[in-house]
Amino acid sequence: MRKKIAAGNWKMNKTFEEGQILLSEVVNMVKDEIVNPNVQVVLCVPFPYLSTFGKLIDTPKVSLGAQNCYPKASGAYTGEVSVPMLQSVGVGHIIIGHSERRQYFNESDAFVAEKVNAILEAGLTPIFCCGETLDQRNEGIHFDFVKGQLTNSLFHLSADDLKKVVIAYEPIWAIGTGVTASNDQAQEMHKVLRDHLASKYGAEVAEEISILYGGSVNGANAQELFACPDVDGGLVGGASLKSREFVNIAKSF
Ligand code: G3H
Repeated sequence: MRKKIAAGNWKMNKTFEEGQILLSEVVNMVKDEIVNPNVQVVLCVPFPYLSTFGKLIDTPKVSLGAQNCYPKASGAYTGEVSVPMLQSVGVGHIIIGHSERRQYFNESDAFVAEKVNAILEAGLTPIFCCGETLDQRNEGIHFDFVKGQLTNSLFHLSADDLKKVVIAYEPIWAIGTGVTASNDQAQEMHKVLRDHLASKYGAEVAEEISILYGGSVNGANAQELFACPDVDGGLVGGASLKSREFVNIAKSF
């Protein structure tokens, strides 16, 4: 059975103190309320908080996550943060290829592929983001575009390595807009992506990959989205900044 994942991406929000309170609240609620052992909660917090916050997580139900990484292990890369550094402070999951990084920092599929390799080499879990713009959807090229993102950044992997990747489909038009993809739109794309994985790696491998949906997931829509057969959870932005709502989302499987 595929892992069900509720991942919170705090993005560039919360002070250290605010974050400490939010994280502690989420951890305590998850410990008390989430009984399904197949559900993994991930909290992707800002870099400066990782070390301290990692020590506040005292349950395997919650994994510490980072929002980005640099693919080189060490060296003269001023301002960057490597995977071994993240690993050394307890990070288990790392978001890569988020549309905000692709858009504002010009990150290419090839660069994201380097990050995938670095994360897998360290034994951590990449949360690989993909998704189309509204224009691409309106032009009808959204399936090919998102399949291409997978091909370009993941298809060099062995089947064993691919199985360690979590995919997050995030239509850019749904991120932070309050406009969620409909259940049908989400399911349709997730199925297309799973079939695409199957075309290269076979159905058995494709069936093992968790594919999350991201884009205005909230406490009111999570249950229906997560009930779609190919939707294995959510990558949650805004609603992950509210402890009660985020944990409710994590309880929506
Ligand atoms: O990484 C999270 C996504 O960008 C979704 O953000 O839930 O605020 O739309 P959102």
